[in-house]
Amino acid sequence: MEIDKKTFLDSLGGPEAANRMDSEARADALESHMMAQLNRAKTGDPAWDQIKPEKYPTVAEVEAQIETRKYREGVGFMYVPRTGENVRKLPPMPANPTLFDFFKLRFMDTSNHVLQSANLAMKNGMKEEIILACLLHDVVQEIIRTDHGWWGAQLFEPYVPENVSFAIRYHQALRYYPDPSVGYEYPDLYRQLFGADYVPPPYIEATYQIVRKHPWYMDARLVTVNDLYAFDPNAVVSIEPFIDIIGRHFKQPKEGLGNDGSPVAHMWRTIARPDQPL
Ligand SMILES: [Fe+2]
Ligand SMILES: [Fe+2]
Repeated sequence: MEIDKKTFLDSLGGPEAANRMDSEARADALESHMMAQLNRAKTGDPAWDQIKPEKYPTVAEVEAQIETRKYREGVGFMYVPRTGENVRKLPPMPANPTLFDFFKLRFMDTSNHVLQSANLAMKNGMKEEIILACLLHDVVQEIIRTDHGWWGAQLFEPYVPENVSFAIRYHQALRYYPDPSVGYEYPDLYRQLFGADYVPPPYIEATYQIVRKHPWYMDARLVTVNDLYAFDPNAVVSIEPFIDIIGRHFKQPKEGLGNDGSPVAHMWRTIARPDQPL
């Protein structure tokens, strides 16, 4: 996917403002920018990135923008559409919803990206747990984006093998660190967009130092390998190729996700019923 540097930096409030952001926030902004482009390609909406401001705002203006925004950036895509449009009424969920139902009826803003990622993992001959981790790695961004690796792992923990939730949790931190053994380099895209002096915050660095020595390190690493290059706005993707893998590794509760009394059932209900006020 082509990313126009100026357009992206403009969206952050200009290069100075981008320099002031911490690295995690900038990477999240980039991922969100790419997802927005993908969704636009899917819906045929006008290209948001073609709208260019006449001049860069100052840092103070950017800081002031926080209080002019109707939402905080960490809030999930399904709760606050970034298009500025009104939300739409969602189709009802079946009584005992499965993972497929969530893909079909609720993961509207993230499914294209994760399906592409899982597709790439499959093409690259990854083992099934890695393909599953790729398929699930970003969908929690429907409800929350801040620290989405940790939230995402929690959402899936009761239903997937332990190494799959491990991979989902730590893909977020590993994307900043090269690993030549699998051909993963710190992406030029990040260097180009964020500058060479890009330093992740201390909790990400500390997490990386722990995870790189873990026996399952490579499981998390391979999610980042199949994640970064997975953005193609023209790709037509479907969940069909992954049905058997889900069947073998995802423990679908018979009562339905959200109804099974698991420690994370409320998270599934939150995705299923986002218009519920309390
Ligand atoms: Fe991610
Ligand atoms: Fe991703």
